[in-house]
Amino acid sequence: MTGGIAAYKSVHLARLLGEAGAEVQTVLTAAATRFVGADTFSGLTGFPAHVSLWEQPGEVLHVRMAHEADMAIVAPATANIIAKLAHGIADDLLTATLLEARCPILIAPAMHTGMWEHPATRGNVSILASRDVRFVGPESGSLAHGDEGVGRLAEPEAIFAAATELAGGRRDLEGRRILITAGPTHEPIDPVRFLGNRSSGKMGVALATEAAARGADVIFVLGPGTVSPPPGVQTVNVTTAQEMRDAVLETFPEADAVIMAAAVADFRPKKVTPGKIKKEDGMPELILEPTPDILSELGRTRTRQLLVGFAAETTGVEEAGREKLRRKGLDLVVANLVGQGGTGFGSDTNEAAILSADGEDEPLRPWTKRDLAQAVLDRVAALFEIR
Ligand code: C5P
Repeated sequence: MTGGIAAYKSVHLARLLGEAGAEVQTVLTAAATRFVGADTFSGLTGFPAHVSLWEQPGEVLHVRMAHEADMAIVAPATANIIAKLAHGIADDLLTATLLEARCPILIAPAMHTGMWEHPATRGNVSILASRDVRFVGPESGSLAHGDEGVGRLAEPEAIFAAATELAGGRRDLEGRRILITAGPTHEPIDPVRFLGNRSSGKMGVALATEAAARGADVIFVLGPGTVSPPPGVQTVNVTTAQEMRDAVLETFPEADAVIMAAAVADFRPKKVTPGKIKKEDGMPELILEPTPDILSELGRTRTRQLLVGFAAETTGVEEAGREKLRRKGLDLVVANLVGQGGTGFGSDTNEAAILSADGEDEPLRPWTKRDLAQAVLDRVAALFEIR
C-alpha cells in the first residue's frame, strides 16, 4: 500500500484475499500509514504488517518477503511508486521488496487525473507493462477533494478478480453467458407502499463475483436489495416481479445458464392504488394475485439453458427443494433455511443443501455465501462439460 486516501479500500481487498485462502502479508509505505493503520492489517491477516526496512534486526526483511511471495499487489499505487518501480529505485521496504521480487506484480493505480495522464506516468506505465507487470484500473469517478475523473482505485472485487486471473485461477466458465438474479422484488400497493421481503442480494452478489472471476459473461438482474452490484458486471436494476421477468426473458435466449437467486415476491396487490391510501379512509383491503413464476416459465421454454433455482424455506427445507426441482423443471436447487439468525436473508452465511436432478445431492449444512457460490458454480461448470 502506498499513500492515498483509497488505501481504506485495501482493507476490504485484504479480507477478500484472506477469505479466498491466500496468506496476505502487508507492506505499507510511510505515507500509507497516514491513511490506514498497520495494525488493521496485522489484525485482519494474522501476519505482522511491515513499514520499515530496519524493523526486524538480524533479518533481511525485503529479501525474505520477496522470495516468499507468490504475487505482489500494489493497491493503491501512487504515481510516485509507479515511477520508482519503473526506474528501479529501492529506497524503502516496499520498493526494495518489489525490486527483489520475481513473482507476478499487479498494480492498482490511484491518483488525480493530471498525474495519471502525465507523459511521465504514461511512460512509466509502459515500461512496467513491457516487463509484464499487470495493471487493474484506474477507474473513472469521484476522486479526493471532490474532484471527478480517471484515477480512482479499482474496486476491491475487481482487484481480487484480476489477482485471481493472474494467479492462474480457474477460468472454467470462460465463454459462458450466465444470467444471475438477486435481491427481493417490491410489489407496489400505492405510490409509497409495497409488499416485499428481507432478501439482501448478498447470495446473488457472491455468485456473480465468482462467476465473473471464473471467466463467465455475467448478466446480473438485481432487485431492490441492500447490496451494490459487483463492479464490472453488466447489471439491470428492477423493482417488481414483472420487471424481473421481462429483464430475464429478454436475455434468456442468449444465456447458457440462469441462476435465480432472487427472492421473487409470490403475490402482488391485484390493483395498485394511484394515490396514497389515507388512514382516514378506514382499513384498506388488499386483494392479492400471483406474480408470474419466472423459473417455471423458463423451465417450460428452455432450449439448452441450465436452470438453477433457490428455495428459501423455514421448515422442511430439503423436501420443499426437491419438490421445486421437479415442478419447475430445474437442474439444481439450492434449498436454504431462512427466518433464523446467521442463515439466509441478509446474512453472510447460509444453511443450505444443493439438490440435483441427477441425484448427486449435498446435504443441508452451513456455508459462507462465497463457498456456497463456488460449490454451485462447480456444479454448473461440471454440467456444462457433460452437455
Ligand atoms: O416457488 P418459490 O418462490 O419458492 O421458488 C423459489 C425459486 O423460484 C427461486 O429460485 C425464485 O427466484 C424463483 N421464483 C420465480 N418467480 C416467482 C417466484 C419464485 O422465478 N414468481
